[in-house]
Amino acid sequence: MSQDKGKQAAALAALDHVRTGDVVGVGTGSTANHFIDGLAKLKGRIDGAVASSEATAERLRGHGIEVRELNDVGKLRLYVDGADEATRHRHLIKGGGGALTREKIVAEASETFVCIADRSKMVDRLGAFPLPVEVIPMARSLVARALVRMGGEPAWRTGFTTDNGNVILDVHNLDILDPVEMEREINQLPGVVTVGLFARRGADLLILGGDDGVETI
Ligand code: 5RP
Repeated sequence: MSQDKGKQAAALAALDHVRTGDVVGVGTGSTANHFIDGLAKLKGRIDGAVASSEATAERLRGHGIEVRELNDVGKLRLYVDGADEATRHRHLIKGGGGALTREKIVAEASETFVCIADRSKMVDRLGAFPLPVEVIPMARSLVARALVRMGGEPAWRTGFTTDNGNVILDVHNLDILDPVEMEREINQLPGVVTVGLFARRGADLLILGGDDGVETI
């Protein structure tokens, strides 16, 4: 099975978690896009969606799904999003698509976070995928130096600006032994908006698509 088929299988399985009347929190990326395409078939049953990026909002609207403001809807019952890496503890690295801050906000506002991914995203330890960190532009070098002191090798994602007008540092070769502690430590650096570690609030459910079908953790 190709990675894309695995993503699609996981995304379609997540549709079973959507209930009538939900305002659904929707993530960003190619796996989330499969979920959006499936959600279009249920659009008569839901009360709209909250998007974690401008790209997702555009795709939702393209399918005729109403995009709601998080400030107007309050708590969400369900958030569905992909990941760049995931562990059996349901700790994640996210932000490959640069939408990590809004993704973390929507995840925090949601009762249940269902993470969808193809099986290749499953790892024993996080960190082979460079860890994205969203940073206020004037703090780029300051934060990069702090990340070097923590043992990482930050690379500026050049030519990319987040939906919030910030920059991304992709941190290579970090030894992420304690994801919850590292999330806290990086988030405390002045100038950091969000680190793409989702450990303090990880996924509640992990749906992995692969050759032998879909596995739920
Ligand atoms: C975007 C994300 C995505 O969920 C992550 O990059 C996975 O993307 P894809 O589904 O395309 O593999 O965190 O910021």
